[in-house]
Amino acid sequence: MFPTQFAWGAGTAAYQIEGGWNKDDKGPSIWDTFCHKGGGHVFEDHSGDIACNSYELWEEDLKCILQLGLTHYRFSLAWSRLLPDGTTNHVNEKGVQYYNKVINDLLASNVLPMVTLYHFDLPQALQDQGGWKTPEIAGIFDSYARFCYETFGDRVKLWITLNEPFVCAKLGYEDGIFAPGEKQPGISAYLVGHNMLRAHARAWHSYHTLYKEKQGGAVSLALNSDWAEPLNPTSSDDIAAVKRYLAFSIDWFTWPVFVTGDYPELMRSCIEVRDKELGYQGSRLPRFSKDEPSILGTADFFSLNYYTSRKVKDEGGRPGCRMRSDQGAVGVVDPTWPVCGVSWHVVVPGHLRRLLNYIKDTCNNPAIYITENGFSQVGPVDLDDVQRCGYYKDAIQEVETAIKTDGVDVRGYFAWSLLDNFEWADGFRVRFGLFHVDFTRPERTRTIYRSGREYASIISKYKTQIKTNN
Ligand code: GAL
Repeated sequence: MFPTQFAWGAGTAAYQIEGGWNKDDKGPSIWDTFCHKGGGHVFEDHSGDIACNSYELWEEDLKCILQLGLTHYRFSLAWSRLLPDGTTNHVNEKGVQYYNKVINDLLASNVLPMVTLYHFDLPQALQDQGGWKTPEIAGIFDSYARFCYETFGDRVKLWITLNEPFVCAKLGYEDGIFAPGEKQPGISAYLVGHNMLRAHARAWHSYHTLYKEKQGGAVSLALNSDWAEPLNPTSSDDIAAVKRYLAFSIDWFTWPVFVTGDYPELMRSCIEVRDKELGYQGSRLPRFSKDEPSILGTADFFSLNYYTSRKVKDEGGRPGCRMRSDQGAVGVVDPTWPVCGVSWHVVVPGHLRRLLNYIKDTCNNPAIYITENGFSQVGPVDLDDVQRCGYYKDAIQEVETAIKTDGVDVRGYFAWSLLDNFEWADGFRVRFGLFHVDFTRPERTRTIYRSGREYASIISKYKTQIKTNN
């Protein structure tokens, strides 16, 4: 049995579904630029130019939401659709109208919006000024956040400032496989992560100082993490490597926000050892300034995105200036683990529950929303996606056990994703939807997968239980 008021949702993100990349005065974002430059950065040079065309077909999305019986829908605002150059100097009223319609239609249908302010799509105009690497971005993001609270906050009560700073920093600046595609290993990811935390904290404080009282909502940031286990469970080196692996992934962001207000000591000490070896003055891991608003406590709930697991082995002593050498550990896929869809994505029963317990234990038992969790597919479309049905049933069962048996305070579950969509560097090759989208047709026809029906029936069973108990 799930708690009353449990949120049953599904999620999407603007660049992945909207299309209309330059319609009605929208400014370009770093994903527009990244896709348009071609050269195979994205599978077969796909782009989100049209994607699911949700900018024009929102009402089709709403039908899907209603068919599933969701209580909540998580979507993101395209910053450069609202503010084409990223600043409040110029507001695109058509963008405001679009999101007003989405929010109003949801509320009229009794579905509550959870709104992400930033899901990977920085306005290109801001990137041109240095983007997330510059300290000024925190104040610029804060202005954007205030604009959104002011414009939509009378109706939106659940806000996510940033989606997955880990992914933005690591894939965008360490590996260079996500926009903006920069590769400055061992340096920029720490700086970007730092400025993202500062930006988030500013936006959280603004909400609490200026809007919380009259709007009564809650603000957090979405953090993702693999679950990690030692490759060799009897090796003390591998066990220590798991600690470092987590320190450089989830703890990197949870320590500042939920635990101490600063980066994990373990992370800092690993980086500083390597700084000395490399002859760096100071540290590549920035420090939070005492003159800025505090980072600690800037989340009203924990927003968790969880997909996959790794076996971790020690590789301390690896040379070079990279995050991987700093952490002295590497995560690998255990060949016995079932892979779904893409090679990075393995599904191991019990691991979501372990990660939930890890968060409960390390972050002072916060209220948790699982804001993303899902199952990828590649290859020929199979509307009868039995495996994904099994996945959702098991994952939701694990969440229930974590609540009932372990006392984890889980408040909601959002399947990723409502629709098949533009899966970043994998383009349209990888499908996560509860609804299939036919990308070969201009109508972008949506058709429910068997897993969509399965999820709808789980939600309806829950709603019946609530009614019966009342
Ligand atoms: C997350 C991301 C989503 C989605 C998902 C599946 O990192 O927030 O946008 O793409 O991964 O890979």
